[in-house]
Amino acid sequence: MRGVILAGGKGTRLYPLTKSLNKHLLPVGPEPMIYNPIHNMQASGIKDVLIVTSTEHMGDMVNLLGSGSDFGLRFAYKVQDEAYGIADALRLAREFAGEENILVVLGDNVFEKPVDYFVKNYETAQKGKGARVLLVKVSDPQRFGVAALDEHKVVEIQEKPENPKSDYAVVGAYIYDKRVFDIIDHIKPSTRGEYEITSVNNRYIELGELQYDFVQGRWMDTGTFESYYVANKIMYEHYFKKMGIEKPE
Ligand code: G1P
Repeated sequence: MRGVILAGGKGTRLYPLTKSLNKHLLPVGPEPMIYNPIHNMQASGIKDVLIVTSTEHMGDMVNLLGSGSDFGLRFAYKVQDEAYGIADALRLAREFAGEENILVVLGDNVFEKPVDYFVKNYETAQKGKGARVLLVKVSDPQRFGVAALDEHKVVEIQEKPENPKSDYAVVGAYIYDKRVFDIIDHIKPSTRGEYEITSVNNRYIELGELQYDFVQGRWMDTGTFESYYVANKIMYEHYFKKMGIEKPE
């Protein structure tokens, strides 16, 4: 399996923090945000990781991360010229992925606990075929892709629905087999003009090949000041606990 970290976008909701800095380079706890998806790759045993970011921030990204040798990984980089949605950015990973399956992580999703269990379950329960998503219960599902569930499976995912059918958000970590790129070629842009990752996931649902796990530990996106604040708090708490340092008041 290979890894893809999507770290483009303008991060306008965190302005002015993101005026000159790429959102994914902002600190979350004691590390830059993008270290979190990198740790997910390491924990999952992935060695080759493609990092997709926008032109204006590519220099900063490479300055910070280099070849990947500091992390025991091999990094490749691709520039996303324009932001037409997550699925559109993922298109850039086609050659990099080749025949392999991919773990795709959105660079602004912060996981308290690495998602290695997610990758293991894909290999065992799905034998490395189809798609797998991660779900988490949230109080504000309107902000996310939302999964309608029956007893055993996801029956539909709706992107930012006004009237969500459940409280289960689809978080920004996905596993796909190589068919994902053909699927992306056939989806249409949404009303907001984006190639939605939700459309890709719904296609796998139609094929009967999408399974899910629930997120272990706490999860945050960092799209708003509120969620960015919570992500910092949680990751600092986690760090102090790990280091045996008393939490400052
Ligand atoms: C994206 C996805 C959404 C998902 C979310 C997780 O939304 O479109 O389905 O729930 O990431 O962070 P965005 O952050 O682009 O609004």
